Amino acid sequence: MNILLVGSGGREHAMAWKMAGSPLCGHLYCAPGNAGTSEVATNVPIADTDIGSLVAFAKDNAVDMIVVGGEEPLAAGLVDAARAAGIKAFGPTREAAQIESDKAFAKQLMREASVPTAEARLFKDFQAAKDYVLSRDQGIVVKAAGLAKGKGAVVCPEPYQAVAPLEAMMVQRVFGAAGDTVLVEELLTGPEASVLAFCDGRTIYVLQPAQDHKPIGDGDTGPNTGGMGCYSPVPAVDAATSARVEREILVPIVDALRRRVGRYEGVLYAGLMLTAAGPKVIEFNARFGDPEAQPVLMRMKGDLVEIMLAVCEHRLDEVEIGWDPRPAVCVVMASGGYPGDYAKGHAITGVDAADAMDDVKVFHAGTKLAGGKLVTNGGRVLGVTALGETIAAAKARAYEAVGKIAWTDCYYRHDIAEKAGSGA
Ligand code: AMP
Ligand code: GLY
Repeated sequence: MNILLVGSGGREHAMAWKMAGSPLCGHLYCAPGNAGTSEVATNVPIADTDIGSLVAFAKDNAVDMIVVGGEEPLAAGLVDAARAAGIKAFGPTREAAQIESDKAFAKQLMREASVPTAEARLFKDFQAAKDYVLSRDQGIVVKAAGLAKGKGAVVCPEPYQAVAPLEAMMVQRVFGAAGDTVLVEELLTGPEASVLAFCDGRTIYVLQPAQDHKPIGDGDTGPNTGGMGCYSPVPAVDAATSARVEREILVPIVDALRRRVGRYEGVLYAGLMLTAAGPKVIEFNARFGDPEAQPVLMRMKGDLVEIMLAVCEHRLDEVEIGWDPRPAVCVVMASGGYPGDYAKGHAITGVDAADAMDDVKVFHAGTKLAGGKLVTNGGRVLGVTALGETIAAAKARAYEAVGKIAWTDCYYRHDIAEKAGSGA
């Protein structure tokens, strides 16, 4: 079958790499893709939110299934538009994707389904929000209700610190309409983990857990990013915890979604805080995580195309999925300056040497080919992912591979996966 994969990050390169290995995969297109996806797919220069052009391309090129990588095309209704055109689509509908695109919707649904999450209040009025936070005496988190490219949550250990981000979101409207409604949440503490699952609306298959590293700096310092590195599995999420997440979180939320908006199909991502009172939801995402997809798909044994097709046809229960028992560690290499301003177009060296190492795969994110040369083209540039017998061995191998790669002003964290040993 011919497939159009939509997106251009490390997640999409990992998905394309995995899909290209499937005997079911005919022609694989990636829109818009990056230099890495061009090795296994035909890149198509269409933006991931240009729904009309994506569906028209799919129709003109006999595409049988559209696979949606990121949240923006989901929120823009790509799955709905594909299905209306008679094309299979892997991912939730626009309404179901509100679990990610509208944090107020998600919070309400969690309450309805008794899913453990941080207590929260919703505000549309800046003055009311400000009065509320100044009346609190515990740490809080301020979140824009809409999509804000992973930058819409501000953790405020002291309540007064919430006033500035509230003003930025609600008065200066730095996230546009996404910040017109804000949530003020209780601050949870504990290790974080990402538990992702394939869902066809009825059957839920929970993937091996992963742990992201969101802040830019070593030791989890500095502003949040899309994710600076990741490892899988997570010692803190043992089989009992994973079963509890499925029972207390994933099953009830998928049931609540079905009652409210119909079947949830695709990947459902629970961002969790493992609190003293058990796992609680920080957020849901309606797609694979990035970088989570990189170590998780590197470990997954199974045919990703077959799985996606089974999700579209509501027969996920028929599919076999296995796991490489070895851990994987992914170190994100970024452009200096990210998550703020950064330069593009620097020549990248050493990727082939790193990729040639055993059990190493270099996934591309912000890269492109310019005159046949690989150059930087985004904030997060590469996800260097390695397997090893232990997390420490996978980490050492990933950093050995990172050491072979260079460009001007390249930046990466040096402590990815160190938390695995500390139980955090
Ligand atoms: P989000 O955009 O909701 O994923 O939040 C980004 C990051 O902010 C999370 O990965 C957490 O580190 C932190 N965070 C979000 N919500 C909370 C919360 N209720 N308590 C503590 N930290 C949080
Ligand atoms: N790595 C976090 C995310 O994909 O949202």
